[in-house]
Amino acid sequence: MEKKYGVKDGYWLMGFQYEITGSLYSFGQIPRCKVSMLEHLQPGSKLLVAGAGHGTEAIEGAKRGIAVTTVDISKTMISFMQKKIDRVKLAKPIEIINDNILNVNRTGQYDMVMANYFLNVFRRDMMLQILTHLCTCVKPGGSMVIGDFALPKEGNFFYRAFQKTYWYLAATLYSITADNSVHPIYDYPELLKSLGFEIAEIKYFRIFGMKCHWSVRGVKK
Ligand SMILES: C[S@@+](CC[C@H](N)C(=O)[O-])C[C@H]1O[C@@H](n2cnc3c(N)ncnc32)[C@H](O)[C@@H]1O
Repeated sequence: MEKKYGVKDGYWLMGFQYEITGSLYSFGQIPRCKVSMLEHLQPGSKLLVAGAGHGTEAIEGAKRGIAVTTVDISKTMISFMQKKIDRVKLAKPIEIINDNILNVNRTGQYDMVMANYFLNVFRRDMMLQILTHLCTCVKPGGSMVIGDFALPKEGNFFYRAFQKTYWYLAATLYSITADNSVHPIYDYPELLKSLGFEIAEIKYFRIFGMKCHWSVRGVKK
């Protein structure tokens, strides 16, 4: 079948530092956030990781015997994931797809689809198209998991200003280096509900006590 959506490697310049910078910028909370929902999967479960980057959650899943598929548009990011894979022992091999996620049609095939720090790279209309597409890949009763910068919803002005500034600094860096979109933080629980998912769980990851990252798990009804 002919490819419909384009492929580009936006991380050719900054891909090498992506994982370590994210970990430092979040005092280790981003890596924790990315793997936190794997506990809902068993060996043999099927997991799709969209925009997998260096593949932290994909590799951790495959170590646990989960059948993982990763999709990333960037050859650079995939090469860093491959280097990490080569250094560890996996219970199951990872299927690695270098393509635009919109070209990957796996309707109803996955127990869990993960989009960690992926949807935030897109402007709202494209983010909605991709999220809708990812939701089609989830089996009935399966989970759609989104790990990302948390939406400022509580606390005083200074609390929310910190959360927003923290997001906009990261977004601005990657808009300059990887052409990502700069936009207000997305409300993933509301978006998942609007796509027919029930919010089963939200885990927060804090910096200086503030809810800066979250992992949202919606279950397909
Ligand atoms: C901000 S990085 C996040 C990487 C990883 N999920 C993480 O948390 O470290 C976004 C990733 O999405 C990939 N990406 C961007 N657009 C994509 C698309 N349309 N299809 C597949 N991957 C895409 C980029 O190459 C990059 O690796």
